[in-house]
Formats: sequence, structure tokens, C-alpha cells
Amino acid sequence: MSTPNEPLLLQALARKPTPRPPVWLMRQAGRYMAEYQALRAQAGGFLEMATNAAYAAEVTLQPVRRFDVDAAILFSDILLPLQAMGMDLRFDPGRGPVLPRPLRDAASIDGLRAVSPHKHLPYVGEALRLVRAELDRDKALLGFAGAPFTLAAYAVEGGAPGAGMNLRALMYRHTAVFENLMGKLAEVVTSHLRYQVECGAQAVVLFDTWAGQLARDDFMDFVAPWNEQILKSLQGLAPRMVFVRDGGHIMDDVVAWKPDAVALDWRIPIGAAFDRWGDDVAIQGNLDPAVLLSTPEDVNARARRLLDAVGGRPGHVLSLGHGVLKATDPECVAAFVAAAKEAGNGAAGNGAAGNG
Ligand code: CP3
Repeated sequence: MSTPNEPLLLQALARKPTPRPPVWLMRQAGRYMAEYQALRAQAGGFLEMATNAAYAAEVTLQPVRRFDVDAAILFSDILLPLQAMGMDLRFDPGRGPVLPRPLRDAASIDGLRAVSPHKHLPYVGEALRLVRAELDRDKALLGFAGAPFTLAAYAVEGGAPGAGMNLRALMYRHTAVFENLMGKLAEVVTSHLRYQVECGAQAVVLFDTWAGQLARDDFMDFVAPWNEQILKSLQGLAPRMVFVRDGGHIMDDVVAWKPDAVALDWRIPIGAAFDRWGDDVAIQGNLDPAVLLSTPEDVNARARRLLDAVGGRPGHVLSLGHGVLKATDPECVAAFVAAAKEAGNGAAGNGAAGNG
């Protein structure tokens, strides 16, 4: 049932018809914003900012204030639970995440610590509470976690996974060790997502950025059971969205887990996605983030074209196919958000079946 203040995003995740599509962007808080850069300098770095509830809450709210997007996503990182499990983690400027003692054998995996989120990740819950207190009731608050395979990729490779061959070797040659790691990660991910919902997250996103690298058979054998288990254990608690980059070949299988929504990258034509999965799940996406390196006019036109392809079908969340890039002009983000806001005026979508 629709309630007056129910955030548009939650309505769309329930596939209710909405007057316009809700809009938010992955990595909507980030280095492309001057106010983010200023706060990061003040905090002393990314990790210092993400692990301090007051800073994390403030930076979570920055893009909501500036662009009036329909959702705030907790400012944090998928890799912080690995730190809570005992791994060293740092972020090198220009290089991204570095885990200097990667997991390569059974002993290092056995040595990982069990995590109690309220004890080991308390800044996450605190930041969510602070954000909720500031956030308008018509905005949704999102929590998230990395999926076990993507976390394993960073943990085993020691940083950006690239081709991920250390992980693949572990997976194929030492399958029991790999499964032990996946089991531990699935447990942490589940409890971390539950904790976020307890602290105010109204929907959760499971990011499996690297799972799309696998052939379908391997995806089904080594990844799918864990993700399905995590989603099942959260069923009824909060709407669950799944993102798999490069996942076109396995999206039927992802939809079969019955998540509430799938987030698509830009390689999947969104109109065809609605034809195929639109009766089963809500669909988020999926403009190529690189389009936001063009002009505001181009961004707006490309977003409208995307909305036309969706044709106003219920269950659409306008977003990018991956995170906002550092070189993005904030005016291009504003132009993207505007396309969703204007769609309610009959410009595109939601009832107006127009094609340009
Ligand atoms: O979306 C949001 O605005 C919420 C915050 C968020 C961050 N990372 C902040 C961040 C979320 C949801 C993530 C998820 C995340 N982190 C994923 C899954 C989604 C995806 O993007 O594929 C992954 C794989 C990571 C791991 C990670 N963290 C990488 C690869 C990097 C480097 C990125 C880069 O462009 O250098 C990070 C660091 C990170 N996480 C930054 C931000 C804003 C940049 C940190 C900085 O230098 O200030």
C-alpha cells in the first residue's frame, strides 16, 4: 500500500507505479565533488572519513543536498568488513585499495576473525542513525555490502582484482579452502546487512562487481549458492537489490534468486531487460558513467532516451551502470537527475509512451 511519504525509491522497488522514476547514482558522494574533497582533506583520508560516523554521515548527505536525489547511500566501503575480519587495508591515491597481506592459504583464511557488526563496525550503525535523523522522510536510506565473491577477489588478490587468477587458482585447485572463505564472508555479509537494516537502512544493495568475470557454470557452482543464501536470509526485512557488473550472461540466474531488484550495467539494453525481467524484479540503471564526461545537454538527452526505452513501466530506478567517475562535472550529474524529475511532466516515460 502506498503511503503519502513512502520514498519514491521504495515504491519503485515494490514495482508500484510512480509519478516519475526515482533517481540516485552509485558513488554519488565522491572525489568529483569539491565539498567531498574538502571534507576528506579535513578528515585526513578516505578511511578516516568512512570510519568516523560524523564524517560518514555528512558526506552521505552531500549529494542529497546538492542534487536532491531520491536516496542516500551510506558512505562506506565494501572492504571495511575485511578490515574488521583482521585484514590490513589502505587506500593509495591513484591505486585504490591495497590489502598488503592477501589471503593465499588455508591458515590465513582460518585466522580470519568472526565479526559482530555492532562491535567491530559501530561507525556504520551510528552513521546510518545520524543520516536518518537529517534525511527527509521522502528520501530512502540505502545500506550495502560486497558479495562474497567480490570480497574474496580483493582479499586474495591483495587489491584491485584485475584478471583475478590467484582467486581462480584457489577456487579450482583448493576448492575446500575457497568454500571455507566464501562461507566466512557470507556470514559477515549477512550479519552486516541485518545490522544496517536494524540501524535504519530501508533497502540494501549487494555489490558483486567481479562475479561477471566467470563463465556461467562456474558462477552457478561457486557464487550463486552464497548470494542466494544471503538474499533468502534477508527476505521480508528490507528490499534487496543485486548488482553484477558484466553480468548479461547470468542475469536470468540472478533474477531466479528472486531479489527485489537488479542493477544493470550499461551493456544490457534496458528496454529488452524490462521485456524479459520487468514482471519479476525492479530494474535499476543503466547509463554508462562515461557519458557523464560529456556535456549536461548530452547527458540529459541520453538519459531521456533511456527513459523512453523503459517507456514508463513500473519498477524502474534511474541510475548509472556503475559508479560516478572522478573526472565528472557535477553539472552533468545535475542534468542526469533532472531527466528523472522532468519525466513526470510528460517529457518521457511513466505513462507517456513517446519515443522521442
Ligand atoms: O555509492 C556510494 O556513494 C556509497 C559509497 C561507496 C563507496 N564504495 C565509496 C568509495 C560504495 C557503495 C562503494 C562500493 C565499492 N567499493 C565497490 C562495489 C561497487 C563498485 O563500485 O563496483 C567496490 C568494488 C569497492 C572497492 C573500492 N573502494 C575501490 C575499487 C575503490 C577505488 C575507487 C577509485 O575510483 O579510486 C574504493 C575507494 C572508494 N570507495 C572511494 C569512494 C568514494 C574513493 C575514495 C577516495 O579516494 O576518496
